[in-house]
Amino acid sequence: PAVDNATAVVVGSGYGGAVAALRLGQAGIRTLVLEMGRLWNTPGADGKIFCSTAAPDQRSMWFRTRTEAPLASFLWLDVVNKDIKPYPGALDRVHFDAMSVYVGRGVGGGSLVNGGMAVTPSQAYFAEQFPTVDATEMYGTYFPRARAMLGVNTVDSTWFESTEWYRFTRTSRKAATNAGLKTTFVPNVYDFDYMQREAAGTATKSALAQEVIYGNNYGKRSLDKTYLAAALGTGNVTVNTLEKVKRIERAADGTWLLTADRIDVTGTVVETKQYNCTYLFLGGGSLGTSELLVRARDTGALPDLDARVGAGWGTNGNTMVGRANHIWDTTGANQSTMPVMGIDDWANTANPVFAEIAPLPIGFETWVSLYLAITKNPSRASFTYDSASDGVKLGWTAAHSAVSVAMAKKLFDRINLANATIYRYDLFGSTSKVFADDFCYHPLGGCVLGQATDDYGRVKGTSRLYVTDGSLVPGNIGVNPFVTITALAERTMARVLVEDTAP
Ligand code: FDA
Repeated sequence: PAVDNATAVVVGSGYGGAVAALRLGQAGIRTLVLEMGRLWNTPGADGKIFCSTAAPDQRSMWFRTRTEAPLASFLWLDVVNKDIKPYPGALDRVHFDAMSVYVGRGVGGGSLVNGGMAVTPSQAYFAEQFPTVDATEMYGTYFPRARAMLGVNTVDSTWFESTEWYRFTRTSRKAATNAGLKTTFVPNVYDFDYMQREAAGTATKSALAQEVIYGNNYGKRSLDKTYLAAALGTGNVTVNTLEKVKRIERAADGTWLLTADRIDVTGTVVETKQYNCTYLFLGGGSLGTSELLVRARDTGALPDLDARVGAGWGTNGNTMVGRANHIWDTTGANQSTMPVMGIDDWANTANPVFAEIAPLPIGFETWVSLYLAITKNPSRASFTYDSASDGVKLGWTAAHSAVSVAMAKKLFDRINLANATIYRYDLFGSTSKVFADDFCYHPLGGCVLGQATDDYGRVKGTSRLYVTDGSLVPGNIGVNPFVTITALAERTMARVLVEDTAP
């Protein structure tokens, strides 16, 4: 195939990729972003770009014949999932042996499908996880820069206390408070002024219309509206969609050579393309970047990559769980899809847990309090190259997940005891499953900062190759991760543009 040239190529358009693209574009560097998902800017037959969780169609998931929602059942009934036509939909669930990982697909990556919770970790825990990073500089410069660019805002507390749309959160807060636990508001990138207008009936509903994991049609400041819009505005950045990078190697002249498959909306490979560039930035996320680098090392394309490429992977301790409330403790038929509060027991060194109070927006009263717990699970796994599939396997086991479950259980047993309540047994498919231990939303690691890369994301054992995404985070960050990923990418770009690309 013919080889296209750019000075820099960015693989992936999630948080890490979007920050790289903007800062390269602003520096006047001709940059090409390659994204395997589609650009979500064209309304379907119903006039909407994305579908809601209530009525999923082909736009919901990445090449599936049936949706695979996190909540598999309700009252043990298979009422949640729907048959769909295979299509490059916005949400993917990638299956490994004992863990499946939800990721976003499309221009904007995870920002298209996530809950928008924009949480900065505690400085002490950040310093523990990143001992070689100057935490003072991170909290003084890069975290504020990331939050400003992402459009982080906080729900108005007066409205929060009165609106039906957050009754589910107030009910969970009451149960936590009864157990002596601390709750805290968490910021979000969803525009809360817009949400209040949705509630008032003066704006088209999105967060208040069961839209989230398959995309939001309004209100959410996803990356296509923030970093990526600004990147395209520099005039130096181009985005190619439905192109999956398969292989990276060094050309004879020392530049980078990439091979990518371009697919159509049926998933058929219609073209194999090659790209040549001087600087290569990997923003394919923990799964995408780890796979590319493990494959490059273990097929011999980049044999000098560090042995720790592929290692240090974790789920951020993710475990989902539901509690059954008393009949008088209603959670409400109307629930906003954007979480705004967490139970913060991270300071409990015997059992650190931060549990997001999650919605169950299905349009009728369920009496369910749902949570996504982030636990300080120390388990880590590695990706290994699998030559049979030319892909990777992940060494995460059920025993690793059991550590997260045990920690979450301690916290929620305490809440149940204080409130005389029980767990829900009907939400995760099988009759006895209380804790969802087989999927996660927060894949982290696989190319850990300061281990597989130097302290700025430069991949060891080669040159002009950079990682800017969640694979840099060593398996756990104690809160929802995208603000941390964004801030670390800002730090890398500030350094690289001064030291590596100056003429
Ligand atoms: P990210 O996954 O965002 O982007 C990678 C991009 O690269 C994708 O678009 C992918 O298609 C593309 N790609 C991968 N491999 C490629 C290849 N070989 N070629 C071309 N393109 C490739 N976090 C948080 O902080 N607050 C929250 O509320 C939530 N909630 C939440 C809900 C759900 C349902 C999910 C799935 C996730 C969350 N998260 C979250 C997690 C958050 O979305 C996640 O941590 C970030 O999106 C990770 O950012 P990255 O830049 O690492 O990769």
